[in-house]
Amino acid sequence: MTALPTAPRPVDPGHVSFDRMWAELAPVGRHAATGGYRRFAWTSEDGTLREWFVAEAARRGLDVVTDRVGNLWAWRGDPDAAAAAGTPGLVLGSHLDSVPDGGAFDGPLGVVSSFAAFDQLDAAGFQPDRPLGIACFGDEEGARFGIACAGSRLLTGAMTSERGLALTDADGTTMADAMRAGGHDPAVVGRDEETLRRIGTFLELHVEQGRALGDPGHPAEGAVAVGSSIWPHGRWRFDLEGRADHAGTTRLEDRDDPMLIAAEVIQQARASAQSHGCVATVGKLRVLPNGVNAIPSLVQTWLDARGADARAVRNTVSHLASTVGRTAIEESWTDATDFDAPLVRRLSELLDGAPVLATGAGHDAGILATAGVRTGMLFVRNPTGISHSPDEHAETDDCHAGVDALARVVEDLAGEPA
Ligand code: GLV
Ligand code: MN
Ligand code: MN
Repeated sequence: MTALPTAPRPVDPGHVSFDRMWAELAPVGRHAATGGYRRFAWTSEDGTLREWFVAEAARRGLDVVTDRVGNLWAWRGDPDAAAAAGTPGLVLGSHLDSVPDGGAFDGPLGVVSSFAAFDQLDAAGFQPDRPLGIACFGDEEGARFGIACAGSRLLTGAMTSERGLALTDADGTTMADAMRAGGHDPAVVGRDEETLRRIGTFLELHVEQGRALGDPGHPAEGAVAVGSSIWPHGRWRFDLEGRADHAGTTRLEDRDDPMLIAAEVIQQARASAQSHGCVATVGKLRVLPNGVNAIPSLVQTWLDARGADARAVRNTVSHLASTVGRTAIEESWTDATDFDAPLVRRLSELLDGAPVLATGAGHDAGILATAGVRTGMLFVRNPTGISHSPDEHAETDDCHAGVDALARVVEDLAGEPA
């Protein structure tokens, strides 16, 4: 029997542009040895990504505005006139920066999918009833200056400009100096009312950072899920002081070696998290003087702790601090965030009953939601769940499904009565 010829699948303009943009971004900030991305705030890689964003916006005739903090906004329509008329804009977007040796998807998937969704809607002749925007938040991962979601925290005032600008990177460069070097005037940084007024709804599409959609044990409904909430989470630092000395000549009993306490912090962080039903990670150390043959004088140990329950997260940290007898210095804290419940329901219905998931990852969407912006999230399937790693992955078909989902949501939300 001869097989019937199959009709070629129609080429979707949003999928085509997604593939083009994805290929263009692939080499930017990719580290040859690890295959991971090093895209840190206000570096030359960050500058290249910002230029790329501006060029993509120009390609579509969008107006690009830099807010007081340096986040980028690409607008179609007049968001100020619309806000004054009571129909503020619908904004899509995410971030382009990465953790050290991060994956390609965390952040860029949301930005690229947003442009691609615009292309799909344009090709279909869609006329929105309000301005549409695409946001690119700066410094979401906090990889350089230590505070995650720095761009959205400064924008909303969740972090003051005094604190943000004084943060330093590993070389002692302040955020203020880094911004200046990146072409942004730190003097204008602060809560940006004008920008916030323009946002009626913010939607962030993101790669899933767990296996909820890919796990064979889970009833996978498809490639896209809707975010419901973000776990409370925070970062703490232990400054463990000791006395530098010679690794060969100092008797063991004469040493004051803070690395031993660091080892205890690392072990006890896990034990404490386990007993409180949370997760905790020591992912970063700074050792002075950092010589193989020198007992350290200082070990700084960074702790990331998260969980479904805020009190349990805080108890994880205080229990750890008392077990090791050291002070946990709080660097940041983000309370539990619930996305707009009617919007969550609506997104799930629109996407044919897409599953609704809570996440342990932080997002700019969470910061905006806490600031009172109507906010939602979409997650695209990640078959292994691995994230913050070069192994982070989403299949191309699933990424395209994310573009379709975003376009469908825009059609609905930008067509609703004000
Ligand atoms: C950001 O990705 C975070 O969850 O730390
Ligand atoms: Mn991330
Ligand atoms: Mn992210």
